[in-house]
Amino acid sequence: MAKYVRCLMKMSLYIVQAEWYNGAMKRIYLFGSLNADLTIRAPYLPKAGETLTGSDFMLTAGGKGANQAYAAANLGGRVHMAGCVGEDPFGDMLLTSLQKAGADVSHVRRTARGTGVAVILLSDGDNRIVLDRGANGEAEGTDVDALLASAEAGDIFMTQLETPLEVVRYALKTARARGLFTVFNPAPAVREAQELVPLADLITPNETELAILTGEERGEEGCRKLLAMGAGAVLATCGAHGSLYCGQDGIMPVACVHVGKAVDTTAAGDTFCGALAVRLAEGAGIAEAAKFASLCAGVSVTRRGAQISMPSRREVDEIAVSLHE
Ligand code: RIB
Repeated sequence: MAKYVRCLMKMSLYIVQAEWYNGAMKRIYLFGSLNADLTIRAPYLPKAGETLTGSDFMLTAGGKGANQAYAAANLGGRVHMAGCVGEDPFGDMLLTSLQKAGADVSHVRRTARGTGVAVILLSDGDNRIVLDRGANGEAEGTDVDALLASAEAGDIFMTQLETPLEVVRYALKTARARGLFTVFNPAPAVREAQELVPLADLITPNETELAILTGEERGEEGCRKLLAMGAGAVLATCGAHGSLYCGQDGIMPVACVHVGKAVDTTAAGDTFCGALAVRLAEGAGIAEAAKFASLCAGVSVTRRGAQISMPSRREVDEIAVSLHE
């Protein structure tokens, strides 16, 4: 009997702790794209007019916004996503994937225009992506308003550039005005997105995006330029070279974590962003959050696909322990 009571007490303590933790953890609001990814592996990039035999075709859930939402939810974040998908099987697949990870998709709107599609060619250990944004182009300011209706000051807001630029601008402005911490992943970068830089408390470009936004080939110079343009802080990802944090308190490299052989880099940046949001929501500083994000991205590249390659929190925690042994 005493054993039974002790067990019950222990269980209720866990429940109280879990509730406290959930209450302390900020929410993560994601506005962005949802795409069906059609991926095929090719021995090399075909020339104009050439038909090439590839292999390993996959149809999976992707889109930079949805990938970031999935990564964060799968790592235990309290995620709410807004965006648009079509009334089609691709849309069903995307919603199901996010729901399985635990994300709230009640603000993902279904439109008459079909779900966005990304054709991904894997070759030479890298990917090339062509996107038909479809329903993502229908996203509007009212989607952002609905998403942020329940948000509180201090929550995390994250967005990218696969939805219309003017709506992304509105989203960053609205989130800012409501006191959320704004994280802007300027992917895929366009020069016109420069005007959004001052709306970001944190901007997370990769090397290509950094060069497009700043005209600088050198990482440190590019990061400094983004700060000068008004970003609160910069976290530039540099693939296998890790990332570079640049804030008012200085510049610091964050090492890349090699977990295993990289087989597919698709959505590694999205995994990084989603994981970053989770640690920020848990109260970590940017540099500390970047180390965790780096580990998560390191795991994702060892597997194929976008969302299906992303690790769970338990997996990452176990790998982190094994790396320290
Ligand atoms: O960042 C990777 C993503 O970019 C893919 O999932 C694809 O949908 C494209 O949006």
